[in-house]
Amino acid sequence: MKKVALTGIKPTGIPHIGNYFGCIKPALDLAADYEARYFIADYHAMNQEKDPIALKSQIREVAAAWLASGLDPDKVVFYRQSSIPETFELSTILMNFSSKGLMNRAHAYKAVVQENQEKGEDPDAGVNMGLFTYPILMAADILLFDTDLVPVGKDQVQHVEMAQDIAQALNFNYKKEALRIPQSLVQADTAIVPGLDGRKMSKSYGNYIPLCASEKELKKLVMRIVTNSQGVEEPKDPEACQVFTFYKLFASKAEQDELAARYRAGGMGWGFAKEALFQAMNRELTPIRATYEAVMADIPALDRLLAEGAEKARAIASRTIARLRKISGID
Ligand code: TRP
Repeated sequence: MKKVALTGIKPTGIPHIGNYFGCIKPALDLAADYEARYFIADYHAMNQEKDPIALKSQIREVAAAWLASGLDPDKVVFYRQSSIPETFELSTILMNFSSKGLMNRAHAYKAVVQENQEKGEDPDAGVNMGLFTYPILMAADILLFDTDLVPVGKDQVQHVEMAQDIAQALNFNYKKEALRIPQSLVQADTAIVPGLDGRKMSKSYGNYIPLCASEKELKKLVMRIVTNSQGVEEPKDPEACQVFTFYKLFASKAEQDELAARYRAGGMGWGFAKEALFQAMNRELTPIRATYEAVMADIPALDRLLAEGAEKARAIASRTIARLRKISGID
């Protein structure tokens, strides 16, 4: 039997190429060897996005980004978290096996507490239970589907470890392998995509390139990538250049070697390197953009597809819940 890989994306903004290389693409590659499950973590997004109009459109945008990046809904299970009530039932069960101390150690929560302390405010100022229990809901997402492997970015590894801890606590209590213990998978080479300014590409830094940027917008953004002030004639170090870091994501090995040689030889200006990058990017992103636009042009069809996916997902989820209700004495 194939092992199960599962991952989710929170619809909190426009999908960008950091999401694509850091999450979407490596996750989709797993579909060749795993039984793959992908979902849109819309109730997780509610913790950040309280504007209903924005949330609604971001859910569709993330769904379209998955499909545009090559997700085949006939071969994998693709759904919205909010369409799976079993997730929330499992979350309630898991609460009883999640120590408060464990949640206190979650990075996202700790960061807010620390910031509050630095400002001399109450440590829990602005913290709601959605933030505090975020790792439990995420554990439910994972454990509900008998997941073996969770491809995630580095920042989510701790959450997967918490899912392991919680599952182990439950299994220990009932003296049964009631929940499968998941492992995280971080793709070493593509885990962090730099943004236009060299920091990690992130919605919150505003330094991102949208996955479905128009050709014109893409060109403009590439021109904004920060370079140093070396003149045209000077030999340049490709490994110390943001433009080249991006180029490596989009160009073949032969193309990379060729551009690297030009860097080192001198006589190449930043404009040339940026044009080469734009061409390589546009080559990969053009078909993605086209599918994205087609999907977004027919929202009812997209919603039907997600509803079909939810039906497949619930068939699996209901078995897990039935098992747990029995084991725990509820049924
Ligand atoms: N917390 C993840 C993020 O912020 C999204 C997510 C929610 C997730 N549930 C998940 C990822 C389950 C993997 C598995 O990116």
